This record gives sequence, C-alpha cells and structure tokens, in this order.
Amino acid sequence: MADMMRQIWIDEFGGTEALRMRETAAPQAGPGQVRVRVRAASLNPVDWKIFGGGAASVGTSFAPPMGVGNDIAGTIDQVGAGVTGFTVGDRVFGSARVKALQDFTVLDVPAVKLARIPDGLDDPEAACLVVAGRTAWDGVESLGVTAGETLLVHGAAGGVGQYAVQLAVRKGVRVIGTASPHNHDLLRELGAEPVDYRGDLAAKLAQLAPLHAAFDAADGSGVLAATANGVDIERCITVGAKGTGGARGVATDLETHGALDELAALAVRGELRTRILGRYSLNDAAEAYHEQMTGSVAGKLIVQL
Ligand SMILES: NC(=O)c1ccc[n+]([C@@H]2O[C@H](COP(=O)([O-])OP(=O)(O)OC[C@H]3O[C@@H](n4cnc5c(N)ncnc54)[C@H](OP(=O)(O)O)[C@@H]3O)[C@@H](O)[C@H]2O)c1
Repeated sequence: MADMMRQIWIDEFGGTEALRMRETAAPQAGPGQVRVRVRAASLNPVDWKIFGGGAASVGTSFAPPMGVGNDIAGTIDQVGAGVTGFTVGDRVFGSARVKALQDFTVLDVPAVKLARIPDGLDDPEAACLVVAGRTAWDGVESLGVTAGETLLVHGAAGGVGQYAVQLAVRKGVRVIGTASPHNHDLLRELGAEPVDYRGDLAAKLAQLAPLHAAFDAADGSGVLAATANGVDIERCITVGAKGTGGARGVATDLETHGALDELAALAVRGELRTRILGRYSLNDAAEAYHEQMTGSVAGKLIVQL
C-alpha cells in the first residue's frame, strides 16, 4: 500500500476557510523526479492570491482542486530514474508551487531547480529565501544601484522588503525604508533610514533627497512618490502593485535556480537575516495564512512539518 501523507488542499477558491487538511497517498518520484520530505514551508502573499482565485494578478492560472503554498525546504527521500546530481538524504530548498504544504512533494528535476541547503542554515530560514529572497535579489540587481546612491524601499518591513534593504545596504547603498512607526527600530537595525509611509510620502522623501531608485514592495505609492522626486521610472520597480506609474516588475522565474546559492551563503555568514515571526504546525496552516493576510507581518511565517 502506498504511504500516506497530510496535505493542505482546496476544492474551490476562497479565503482561509477554503483550506482543508486531508490524508492522501504520498506522491512517488517517477523518472526525472525527486521526492522531498518537506520540513518547512514559508508563506507568501502569492499563496493566498492563488488559493483566493486572484492568480491572474500574479500572471499565472491555477484551477482547484489543488494544493497550496510555494516555498519548501526539506530532505530528498526518493530519486527517480535518470536523475543526476541529487541523492537520497540531500537537504534542499526551492519552489513547489501549489504543493508545498504537504509532507511530501515531487518535483521535476531539472525543470524545477532545487538548491542545496548549506551547513549552518536550518530548513525554515532556507524556505524563506525562495520567493522573498529571490525577489529582493532580482529586484536590487535589476535596479543596478551602486555605492553612494540612495534607494527607496517601500514596504521595507515585509518579507521582500527586509531582504531588499539588507542586500542594498551591503552594496554601500543608502537605503530609505518605509514602514509603520513601530517597525522603525527594526529598519534601523537592518541599516535603513525609516520613514512612515502614511501622509505625504513625496514631501517626506523631498527632505531626504536626492533619491536615485525605488523598490516598491507595497502598494505602488512608493513609485509615485519617487518619481515625484525626480527618480526616472526606469529606475523604479514594483512587485506589490504591478505597473504603477509604468514601473516594471520583477520577473522572478521560480523554475530557475536564480540566486538561491548566493542568498543561502549570505545567510550562513550572518550577512542576511531572516526574521521569523511565527512557526505553525500543518494543522494551523489556516491560522498562519489568516495572520499573513493581515498585511502587517514584519517578517516571515513558517509552517513546520
Ligand atoms: N515577483 C513578484 O512579482 C513578487 C514576489 C514576491 C512578492 N510580491 C508581492 O510583493 C508584495 C510584498 O510581498 P511580501 O512578501 O513582502 O509581503 P508581506 O511580508 O506580507 O508584507 C508585509 C509588510 O507590508 C507592509 N505594508 C503594508 N501596507 C503598506 C503600505 N501601504 N506601504 C508600505 N508598507 C506597507 C507592512 O509594513 P508595516 O507593518 O510596517 O505597516 C508589513 O510589514 C505582495 O503584494 C506580494 O504579492 C511579488
């Protein structure tokens, strides 16, 4: 008899009430596939945009019934025929789109690129790097910010924002980060100059001029405030409110390896911090998403399996 697993599942789109826990046959690795025993999944807004039926806004389409989540870290426990480069027991992290919140997930290798978790990095922290870390990395790199320039990170207290602040600061960039006042000490610790995003953001930024680039990980108002302060739209990106002011997004292709190795190496060296604010069991996945959907979690939430 096939082994069984627990899985978070939706039969139809909805809010957290649509999330179901079910027992089902564990998937088996076929040719060209590996199976990962998932130990940690990190939550992202894209997860609930997908299970809520808003996938069009993230440029992809999904149809229930289906699983949930994206970012995983765990250990390979099956290797299918023809797979090279991975063996049973390898610790890995990567994307398992709509099949993360389950005990086992099967991934096509190399179509879905998995990175190895280096010694010194635990599964929860590795999982957090997958979407938020890569988006921050790709965004900061695509902006081409250099030492001495000033970057606005709007939504700097969030999962993407905290990584973006740190990656820019380590390049010698002066970073202005927007957050609610209760998160300003956090932003200072990360190396940013905090600004409250409420009120006239453009006027506040004018006091901190000149500004050279903007990474908007919130509602798009960071892009508008930056361009009002003379920042070229070509030096603005927005990931939370795509297209605002004509700004480009960050096309992080989750089926490529990207900078996962680099991000993990920085994390091991203590040069990239992940602030994990909540650790939930699979039973409490709906509660975890309910918290994530408030939009005011200044860090990452994890489901541990
Ligand atoms: N490739 C992509 O296109 C891509 C990839 C990843 C994420 N995203 C999108 O980027 C957005 C951010 O993702 P995330 O993972 O960082 O989300 P998150 O962790 O849930 O962000 C939460 C943070 O957003 C801040 N925030 C909420 N409203 C804000 C506002 N009006 N202005 C400034 N900050 C605000 C809050 O700061 P305070 O608590 O301080 O108020 C909170 O700390 C989401 O829409 C997500 O879907 C896109």
